Amino acid sequence: MAPGILDQNANTAYGDWRDEFYSKGYVVLKNVISREKALKYRKKTLDWLQSFDTDFDINDRSTWTAKNLPQSFKAGMYLNYCAAHEKYVWDARMYALNPIINTTSHKANLDHREPEIIDAFAKIWGTDELLVSFDTINVTLPGRTDVEWSPWPHVDQAPERRGLSCVQGIINLSEAGPKDGGLMLMEGSSKLFDRFFDLNPPDRTQGIGAKHYDFYPFKEHHVKWYEEQGCKLIKVCAEPGDLILWDSRSMHYAKFPESDEIRTIIYACYTPASHATPEDLKKKAELFHRWETTTHWPHCNIHGHGKAMVDGKVDPLERDEPLEKPVLTDRLLQLAGVKPY
Ligand SMILES: [Fe+2]
Repeated sequence: MAPGILDQNANTAYGDWRDEFYSKGYVVLKNVISREKALKYRKKTLDWLQSFDTDFDINDRSTWTAKNLPQSFKAGMYLNYCAAHEKYVWDARMYALNPIINTTSHKANLDHREPEIIDAFAKIWGTDELLVSFDTINVTLPGRTDVEWSPWPHVDQAPERRGLSCVQGIINLSEAGPKDGGLMLMEGSSKLFDRFFDLNPPDRTQGIGAKHYDFYPFKEHHVKWYEEQGCKLIKVCAEPGDLILWDSRSMHYAKFPESDEIRTIIYACYTPASHATPEDLKKKAELFHRWETTTHWPHCNIHGHGKAMVDGKVDPLERDEPLEKPVLTDRLLQLAGVKPY
């Protein structure tokens, strides 16, 4: 199956959430995991943040400063410290236990049940032989005064890569109402991706465009252009246990919390294993064995974030392995790209 093949699906009427996903460029799937389970993962995430040898205290806001926290991107995305490979993160990615039973025949559903998160991606791609990204967690602490925050509208797909090629996911573990931290997204922008970049060819010679292939930042007048075409910038609202999916061609960024809620999420994207080249699979397996975090892309654009550095030396808070390692089942190793299907 070639990347971009899903574009023909955009004109299909499925009679389920996929219709909304294709028309708006995103969808929120409710209660994909139970609220109780999501809050358990949330606690694991906060415990992880507290596991470093610093003065950080989750119950004392005066300690919520950069000097007490491991390094992160945009004040919450933990790209190092083996964060993407903690057991609870893998448990969430592999979610298979006690899915919400949503048919009238409990037994029949149990006999044929699929892991709910993986199943959503399998429905999109038409296969459950998937790879999962090693992207990470995001814990954004509200009310921080040592953080400068500004929107960074972008797409996570190279303008040169035409067609729907990656679907991004957030396993939402905290409340994400209108005032809480969360995903801001330009509804309808995925469909305008080709037109926008035909009019605005990407500059690959300088800035971030020269550094990162599957990323493109927008300027303020670009945001206006999308709005003039009828798109709407929205805050994607969700509750603990919901799964947010979006087309990587959708313009998006994150909102810093205006409320007291600690934004807590796990990023999880899946694409067909058949989309990966042998070289990328080799790279992915090497990064897995080093417990490294990568980009949102599961099958290509495989780049590790390496170790966090301080003054040219490895951050003393760094780790060689997760605090709690995942159980290396065959299914996990297949999703990690280590074991073939
Ligand atoms: Fe992004």
